[in-house]
Amino acid sequence: MTTSSVNSLALLKEKIETREARIGIVGMGYVGLPLALLFSGERFRVTGFDVAADKVSKLNSGGSYIVRILPSAIQQAQKSGFRATADYSEIAAMDAVIICVPTPLNEHHEPDLSYVTGTVASIAPHIHPDQLIVLESTTYPGTTEEIVAPMLEAGNPHGLKVARTLDQPGVHVAFSPEREDPGNDTVARHDIPKVVGGCGPAATELASALYGAIFRRVVQVSSPSVAEMSKLLENIYRCVNIALVNELKQLCMRMGIDIHEVIDAAKTKPFGFQAFYPGPGLGGHCIPIDPFYLSWKAKEFDFRTRFIELAGAINTDMPYFVIAQLAEALNDRSRSIKGSKILVLGLAYKRDIDDLRESPSLTIIELLRAKGALVAYNDPYFPTVGHGRHYDLNMTCTPLDNLAQYDAVLIVTDHSTYDYRAIVKQSKLVVDTRNATKGIDAKNIVRC
Ligand SMILES: NC(=O)c1ccc[n+]([C@@H]2O[C@H](COP(=O)([O-])OP(=O)(O)OC[C@H]3O[C@@H](n4cnc5c(N)ncnc54)[C@H](O)[C@@H]3O)[C@@H](O)[C@H]2O)c1
Repeated sequence: MTTSSVNSLALLKEKIETREARIGIVGMGYVGLPLALLFSGERFRVTGFDVAADKVSKLNSGGSYIVRILPSAIQQAQKSGFRATADYSEIAAMDAVIICVPTPLNEHHEPDLSYVTGTVASIAPHIHPDQLIVLESTTYPGTTEEIVAPMLEAGNPHGLKVARTLDQPGVHVAFSPEREDPGNDTVARHDIPKVVGGCGPAATELASALYGAIFRRVVQVSSPSVAEMSKLLENIYRCVNIALVNELKQLCMRMGIDIHEVIDAAKTKPFGFQAFYPGPGLGGHCIPIDPFYLSWKAKEFDFRTRFIELAGAINTDMPYFVIAQLAEALNDRSRSIKGSKILVLGLAYKRDIDDLRESPSLTIIELLRAKGALVAYNDPYFPTVGHGRHYDLNMTCTPLDNLAQYDAVLIVTDHSTYDYRAIVKQSKLVVDTRNATKGIDAKNIVRC
């Protein structure tokens, strides 16, 4: 290792230790903003970068646009120097830059890396030697090495290289997956171990020092690809297991067995079993999307990821299964979906969060409308719903009164603020896709 590279590494580590290191976080969304607050809480001066002008001005005026993040938390961070900007030239003043931009699928169900490549193209002209650049966006193995690193090298005007060995000067590049589970308060964020894999040993060391300042445990792996793949394994594991219980639920219903009672019994086993729960279909930015990043990449290696495809097929089918169950329940009451008034409870993709990305509720509402139902919705987190990449609803939240006017109330998201006993009491028919009415004994409940 050259003396200068030793010195510059030590200098950045010291800046991290003394909290003098300036941290830039690109993408002030569900991942980037909480991360910025964690670093601010540890007295780092953080700059948040985002292309959305409304988010930048909201943050700079001490406001928040994520329900679970209070404006007071933003104002507290501002006292440690937190501010937001859309000006990428400020990247030059940062010691570490963490990229948390979206990684969706395109209309052909293939990885859409345009947010990542757009970000990297924007920051490349402003990077400097010994800066640490970390990608956190979930993606397929190879993205950091094959796309991010070469783009940074090609896009900066000084011929700066990515440092791949200890004695090579340059910019340090690593991948570290985000493992946040929104709405899950059982584990504090700093107690979730942070996996890091650098393009070179110095990058791994620096990323470990950086995250070590806010996470109790950092897990080093040998390359960015291992870190990228580990995140996909975690999400595919969930996706496949959810598909398994969704399929078993359908069998149990035919057999007259309560799948939830089965899971409750199975999870008493102290080893070798983890409980997953059936539902109306997958939602969120991660589980319905990330596995297909790997399926796509696998084709390059002439490999079919059959578990992912099967799980995807079962989970994608769940909203259709819900519609079929609702149709049957209405039929039993001499009604059809066409012309029925249906209230959908919950738009968010899961309980107690304000995120409706890929939510099965959106698909269910569209399917019901296509069949001629008169659909209303209630969700305390969404006063209105407009249109997005995959839906066009333009609806306003209906108050939870006069429930008897609906032919059916369909529970799609089991928000904890709902009084399920009262809902069951006031409704003609309740179709429950989440076991939210567990323990309530009433003839007007259909669980599916
Ligand atoms: N939300 C989660 O719970 C979660 C959990 C684990 C991993 N992830 C992964 O983290 C990544 C980010 O997800 P998210 O939920 O925070 O997304 P998000 O949509 O909430 O936030 C992304 C932010 O990036 C901004 N942005 C887009 N392009 C930009 C650019 N070129 N420059 C600057 N800002 C830009 C957007 O305006 C937005 O504010 C994704 O890869 C996701 O898969 C998310």
